[in-house]
Amino acid sequence: MRVPFLDIPAQYRDLASELDSVVLDVLRSGAYVVGKHNKALEEELARRHGVRHGIAVNSGTDALRIMIQACGIGPGDEVITTAFTFVASAETIVQVGAVPVFVDIDPQTFNIDVAQIEAAITPRTRAIMPIHLFGQLADVRALTALAQKRELIVLEDAAQALGCRHDGVYAGNFGRAAGLSFYVTKNLGAAGDGGLILTNDDDVAERSRSLRIHGMGRERYYYDAVGYTSRLDEIQAAILNVKLTRLDVWNRRRAEIAAIYLRDLADSGVTLPVQSPGNNHTWHQFTIRSRNRDELQAFLKEREIDSMIYYPVPLHFHTPYRGYGEGEGSLPETESAAREVLSLPIHPHLDDEQAAWVAKCVAEFTAQVPSGR
Ligand SMILES: Cc1ncc(COP(=O)(O)O)c(C=O)c1O
Repeated sequence: MRVPFLDIPAQYRDLASELDSVVLDVLRSGAYVVGKHNKALEEELARRHGVRHGIAVNSGTDALRIMIQACGIGPGDEVITTAFTFVASAETIVQVGAVPVFVDIDPQTFNIDVAQIEAAITPRTRAIMPIHLFGQLADVRALTALAQKRELIVLEDAAQALGCRHDGVYAGNFGRAAGLSFYVTKNLGAAGDGGLILTNDDDVAERSRSLRIHGMGRERYYYDAVGYTSRLDEIQAAILNVKLTRLDVWNRRRAEIAAIYLRDLADSGVTLPVQSPGNNHTWHQFTIRSRNRDELQAFLKEREIDSMIYYPVPLHFHTPYRGYGEGEGSLPETESAAREVLSLPIHPHLDDEQAAWVAKCVAEFTAQVPSGR
């Protein structure tokens, strides 16, 4: 049975007539750049997250870069973050002239190990950027308490955390700002790139709105800062608004698939994902760990089951970021996660039979290769 990792066309089929008509409406309207669809998206996501402002931009990467800059982080400032993430997390810190300082992760959640932050603080530290990985928040209570004590700004990389909450409080409320991504493969994906900044801070919101359009101030063609071309296209905003109407249903389906995996793999010996107390999980990824990860992936591939490795190489091993890290062995949990993680298919268009087949094959592998657990 073929099990694809993603099924983007199936999302389109779920909503084809609404998507077709809204895209045509935008085309016919001539309002392609800033318009009612952007406004509706910004308002709806701010409302859902209980945050004052939503600022749509043209990628999750730009959401991070613009929010970092809008929070006043710049040359020479150190930002504490993790190396077990998509490259944009550290890339955007470097792009504003700041310095990423990597600390290790919690091996169970893959999120920043808050206990290790204190030791990484220096007089140049200005901010902490937790990455809410795979669909649940980092340890936001401990992190915000520490940030408050040490007078540091929290910047949330919420690219994978739309709809994530802790004790009922959503991403975007723990930091001065948070960046969401609507990249195609996200739980809410555009037909291309898109992102959004969430913030409760009026000044950060105003600066972000300005930075996304070249740093333009309130008056047209007068500039307050060096900015970017980073508006979200109206077609993308319109598509996202339509898909938002289905997001809760899709996320519930992801949770059902996660429940099948958790049930069927409970005794398999592979390390299963852990949901921290107080957190919900939106199951952006379902990531297991195995000491024989590469063999397991090949075993699944032979059975036509796709899987992905997020992330095979920690950021401090990549040439452009090596200088910011302490080299091999410096982040042991990050490095061992990169060797062991495997994300199983968990998109909302998988059926129960496919999910059960994936779990059966994983369990078959661990039965054959007990050392691969
Ligand atoms: C953790 C993380 N940060 C940042 C990004 C960047 O988002 P985008 O691809 O929309 O630029 C992504 C997604 O790709 C991500 O997963």
